[in-house]
Amino acid sequence: MAKAQIALKVNGKAVDALVEPRTLLIHFLREQLNLTGPHIGCDTSHCGACTVDLNGKSVKSCTMFAVQADGADILTIEGMAAPDGTLHALQEGFREMHGLQCGFCTPGMIVRGYRLLKENPNPSEDEIRFGISGNLCRCTGYQNIVKAIQFAAAKLAGAPVKEAAE
Ligand code: FES
Ligand code: FES
Repeated sequence: MAKAQIALKVNGKAVDALVEPRTLLIHFLREQLNLTGPHIGCDTSHCGACTVDLNGKSVKSCTMFAVQADGADILTIEGMAAPDGTLHALQEGFREMHGLQCGFCTPGMIVRGYRLLKENPNPSEDEIRFGISGNLCRCTGYQNIVKAIQFAAAKLAGAPVKEAAE
């Protein structure tokens, strides 16, 4: 199959690549760029494990072709920490508040939380729950994921963070 040339930005770096028109964005990220943080949980747009940030929106990367990302600016979990390795407030929140168990949903949850807090830096618990409703977690029961996002919201706002999760 003839390949198409695409140019995009991924985690701040310029990327030029040849892709088959049928290649899904999630497969391009994982198999051509070796960015295996975004996971494949369903391939049917239900689970959100493949969530990335694309041009300022949360996108399930199994729902679009890589060629459609030509010219895009993409952030994956691999781009969340600072270059010196300092964790993003959301990563710290998930660690401190025990927002993960198996971790399969976590990269998508964190990237989704990133956009949620950009759009609403001080969300209520209901707004957090609604905001992550496209991301499924089969381990945690969501309670500590909500606490992790609340932790990050407080930290990013310079406010005191709540007590650690149990
Ligand atoms: S793998 Fe994309 S939503 Fe589940
Ligand atoms: S921590 Fe296992 S699916 Fe969310």
